[in-house]
Amino acid sequence: MNKAKYITTPIYYLNGKPHLGHAYTTIIGDVLKRTFELRGESVFYTTGTDEHGQKNSEKIAKLNISFDEYVEKYSANFKKLFTDLNVKYDFFAQTSFTKHKEIVCKCLQIVYDKGLIIKKKYVGLYCTGCEQFKKESDLDKDGQCPDHQTKPIELSEENYFLQLEPYRQWLVDYINQNPNWIQPINFKNEVLGMLKTPLDDLCISRPRNRVPLGIEMPFDKDYIVYIWFDALINYISNLDWPNDIAKFNKYWTNAIHLMAKDIIKPHCVYWPIILKSLDLPLPKNIMVHGFLVGEGGIKMSKSLGNIIDPEEIINEIGVDAFRFILLYLTNVSKDTQISKNIIYKTYDLLANNLGNLCFRIYKLIEKCNDGVISNPNINSEDQNFINQISAILKDIIYKTEAISDISINSSNLLKVCSDINTYINEKQPWILVKDNKKREELMSVLYVLSEGMRMLAISLNPIMPTISCKILSSMDYDISQTPIEKAFELRKLENFKMKNIGILFPKLETIQEDK
Ligand code: MSP
Repeated sequence: MNKAKYITTPIYYLNGKPHLGHAYTTIIGDVLKRTFELRGESVFYTTGTDEHGQKNSEKIAKLNISFDEYVEKYSANFKKLFTDLNVKYDFFAQTSFTKHKEIVCKCLQIVYDKGLIIKKKYVGLYCTGCEQFKKESDLDKDGQCPDHQTKPIELSEENYFLQLEPYRQWLVDYINQNPNWIQPINFKNEVLGMLKTPLDDLCISRPRNRVPLGIEMPFDKDYIVYIWFDALINYISNLDWPNDIAKFNKYWTNAIHLMAKDIIKPHCVYWPIILKSLDLPLPKNIMVHGFLVGEGGIKMSKSLGNIIDPEEIINEIGVDAFRFILLYLTNVSKDTQISKNIIYKTYDLLANNLGNLCFRIYKLIEKCNDGVISNPNINSEDQNFINQISAILKDIIYKTEAISDISINSSNLLKVCSDINTYINEKQPWILVKDNKKREELMSVLYVLSEGMRMLAISLNPIMPTISCKILSSMDYDISQTPIEKAFELRKLENFKMKNIGILFPKLETIQEDK
């Protein structure tokens, strides 16, 4: 069975500073990648930047710098954020790469030669924010684009179009026959709604004199390629299709596209039809999440002062806590309100549960047995307890397939922390230590605690890689050197001396004052 997976994030527009939303999708991809890799699957994970089109062109004009300088400077912001977020991407896609541009042209030529592209005059409303033509029905009651809160401009021009309507029924059938293709289900239903009425032809070019920045159409030098056609192709140019068919075949059948709900139309309507017109199979899944919004459900914006800068939060609470908190707070099928206050409160929760638990376990083992653990005869009650939590922790690694699993995993991790805390309170090792006849019982509890903490740290690894390794190193456990099949089995320990874990989540004095 082909176990290789390919995970993609959208390629982000270069024109702004990367923000919380970009961080969120990219962290999700990283957690999926780390989870799959932990269970031995090979993963190719890509993110990147979308560098052509009107938005970027306007920004370059404003900055009065060259395209090359712009691309270098602005893509560096995204690369820095992803490094600071500890994201292990395998390839950073940039639409200005020569190879990508050549592949876009190849695709267009194939579709053009098949007679699927027509040239015609079009009059319509155009939203620069979306880089898309809009229908009246797409706009709000004030005639504005709901996502950008701006009125689209009226445009009349001759362009090249890809016909979508001939593929509409095929796409509806595909979605119905593959009910998990678009996840979660509410977004699948939204796409089926878009496919209820005939599809307009997709304008795939822009006159060079209006939008000069982009790839030249291979069959007409007066036009450049529409930014969405250009950008979507990154998903196959990253795999070097059609030059490296082996690589493409290895990864494409298990491709997962991640994104927020804003761009489901290009991904769930345009992209499958482009692939079909290229005679290519569709990606395995489109996984969608809701928006992160400011307090009161209001979109984050600079003017409202409710923007959250991911770099600022990472500096305050550390990257691992930041990654965990974002996943813990969100529900993929809905929008999630987020504020600094909610983040700090969740940090406290994390410190009080996971942080205190690990320290408590270390301290108990140290106080009750000088920090030494051996595997004793575990009594059946303790065995049942460790079996129960190891089953939950194992599922976190083995059963994760989708974005929705990741949010559930983060809650389950905290639940396991509280289960272990309850177990400690019930077993009361500080009482057992006082009675020599209870020595065997005490050793069983200490062993279960240390093994429980080890398994917890393993399942935590994809979300909090650094903290997980910190916990594991106190037990001389190298996650990269131990086969995952053995990870959730009890270890043999012979007078093993545990090291101090230290404080995992320091108290944040300055932040406490802000609350
Ligand atoms: N360039 C296109 C994508 C082309 S992909 C072939 C684009 N870029 S974007 O910079 O606007 O990025 C949109 C994506 O950023 C969303 O789909 C989502 O992944 C992420 N987010 C941006 N803002 C977000 C929120 N407020 N909340 C959650 N995710 C958001 O569209």
